[in-house]
Order: sequence, then structure tokens, then C-alpha cells
Amino acid sequence: MTVERTRVAIVGAGPAGLLLSHLLAEAGIDSVVLDTRSRTDIESTIRAGILEQGTVELLDQIPGTRARTVGHRHDGIELRFAGEGHRIDFPGLVGRSVWLYPQHEVLTDLIAARLAAGQDLRFGATVTGVLETETELPRVTGVAADGTPFEFIADFVVGADGSRSVVRPTVTGSPSGGHFREYPFAWFGILCEAPPSADELIYSNSPEGFALISQRSETVQRMYFQCDPDTDVAAMSEAQLWDTLQARVPGTTLAEGPIFQRDVLRFRSFVAHELRRGRTALVGDAAHTVPPTGAKGMNLAIADVVLLARALEDWLGRGRTELIDAYADTALQRIWKAQHFSWWMTSMLHAAPGASEFDRQRQLGELRSVVESDAGRRYLAEAYTGWPLQTSPTAALG
Ligand code: DHB
Repeated sequence: MTVERTRVAIVGAGPAGLLLSHLLAEAGIDSVVLDTRSRTDIESTIRAGILEQGTVELLDQIPGTRARTVGHRHDGIELRFAGEGHRIDFPGLVGRSVWLYPQHEVLTDLIAARLAAGQDLRFGATVTGVLETETELPRVTGVAADGTPFEFIADFVVGADGSRSVVRPTVTGSPSGGHFREYPFAWFGILCEAPPSADELIYSNSPEGFALISQRSETVQRMYFQCDPDTDVAAMSEAQLWDTLQARVPGTTLAEGPIFQRDVLRFRSFVAHELRRGRTALVGDAAHTVPPTGAKGMNLAIADVVLLARALEDWLGRGRTELIDAYADTALQRIWKAQHFSWWMTSMLHAAPGASEFDRQRQLGELRSVVESDAGRRYLAEAYTGWPLQTSPTAALG
């Protein structure tokens, strides 16, 4: 068994864990990042693709990241319903934009940047326990890639290890301790080889159900359609998938091509009851999950990390506890705003199973209220492009 000392033990090498290690290093605080997955697994897992402006501005400061150069700026989205498209013009409404740059590319950039900076990054390292978090020196135990048991003694432990977090029970007192909501539908996602079908993303509410036409590059496209959560990914032929998608974006002829990846994304909202206990805290999906509509997941993780990094810098660097003591309450304000936005976009755009004609007409009334109102479109643009990143609770008030 190896026993090592670090200042901050970060569990999880996703966007949250990697960005945290970068921000801490900038503040002169060393850390180790542990992840049970291999580097290849992390860099090849398909996730969402939209980065808020604040996320891109933060990534810009890390050498070698390519969100702005390889990613594509999007100045709007289209909401489509009742046979018509309505553009939400982000710069015109709020002076901000978003970038389409897939999460696995963000991860590829961050891993390269952290390794180049000499970060201690351990792949294949499975954490099995977090101990003594209420003491001055919490410990993280686990098994390394080569099978050797390890222990890290740290000043602080961070759970950045996703929705099935092993750190979460230490903080909340139980594996799932939090507020939950399940949805009666899911998304069927495809990646295909085809040119883009539209310049911007289309979020379409149709009588058959929701569809999202997104992109990846000039030659690869990402599309989703609402499906039953128990859908078998292999059951439909390519022709059936195209018919389903096509029927849900009336008015656009989709450019079709070979489908080389299919997945079903379940819809859940979750917020942990506690985000911090003693010398352990949760960030990202370990702390909360949002349904994918509106692409808030990774952006929200980044917002947690910005707050926690500042708080740890103040505490571990200067002995000041105000920010760490305020971390959970400050983070939760944005988390619940993002929960609301993700729930709102989801409920406004999807066909609920068993919806009545009243429900359907009310939903169209809601969509019209948004697109025909300057205030409505501005609210959507503000939330979609991302609220300003906070570094402290006072910034929240100002
Ligand atoms: C994508 C995913 C989303 O959830 C979304 O709202 C927009 C785009 C994507 O994967 O491209």
C-alpha cells in the first residue's frame, strides 16, 4: 500500500475535476486527480456540445484549449412549433453567444494542458473510500491501475466524480441523499455522417414529440428525438430513425447520412441535500443532474468549480473560512436557477405522455408568450448563454 500526501484530492477527471486542478495550481495549491476510467475512455465518451460564453472565456485562459478556435460560435437558436421557426438572437438580446464544442474535446484539451503543466493525474485509480473528513486530514483510499492499494492524505477532498459519485455518501450521509425528479421520457441521440441541416440548433416542439437538430462539424451531425425511457437503441432501422426525426422538424429537409452512434439519454433532475461536509465538497454531476434540454450540465459544473477554487484558495492559502462556509449556499442559487431553466425548456418543448388537448394548446400558448415577447426571448437568451460566473457570495448580491 502506498501512502501519499497532497493538498487537495480531487476524485474525477471530468471537466470539473480537471478545471479545479488548474485553478488550484494557479493559486499555488497542489492536487492529485484520480479517475477510475482510462484516458481513452474519458476522451471518447460522447456528451453534450454547448459551452456558455463564460465557460469559453475561462477555457481561453488555459494554454492549448481550442474551444474558441476549433469550436463554432452560435449567435442564436431556433424554437420551432406549430409549423414555424422563431429565432432567438443572443447577441441582439443579451450581447452574448454560446460555442458548439463537444465535451470530449474539452476533456482532451484539459487533460493535455494539465499533463503539460505537470499535474499529478492518475487514470485507472478506483477510489473506494473517503475517511475522516471531519478531521484536519481527510484520507482517500483506493486501488491504482496496477492493483496496488493507495491512500492519499489531504487537506481537502473534492467529489467531482459524476452522478454515481463515490464521494457523495460522505457528504450527504447516503448514496442518493437529495431532491429527485424523473421524467416520463428520454432522448434518442444519434451521430451521423452528413452535412449540417441548418446553420443553428433547432429545438422543435411537434405533435409527435420533441426533436433537437444539433451539429458537430461540417461532416458529422448530432440529433436527438424524444423517446420512451425504455427504448431499445438497436430496435429501429436507420430509415425509421430518419423518418422519426424528419417528421418532427416539419419545414426542414434533414440531410441524411450513415448513423454511426446511437444512445438513449435518461432525464433526471437531482440536487444533493448537502454540498459540503467538513473537509469534503461536491461539484458538478456529483452534486446535481439536470435534464439535457438547454445544455446546462457541464456549464453548471464549471460554475461550481469557479466558486470552490476561490473558496479553497482563501481557506488553504490564507486561512479565511468565509467563502468555504458560503460555498454550498452560493452554489445552490445558480444550481436551482439552472434546474429551473432545464426543467422549463424540457416541459415547454416535450410532449408529455397522456397530455390532453388543453395541455398541448397551453404549451403552444407558453411558447408564443416567449417568442412574441422581447422580455421572454431575453430571459431565454440570458439563461442559455449563461449567467455571469460568480467567485464569491458578495458578487452574487452586486
Ligand atoms: C446538444 C445537447 C443539448 O442538450 C443541447 O441542449 C444542445 C446541444 C448537443 O449535444 O449538441
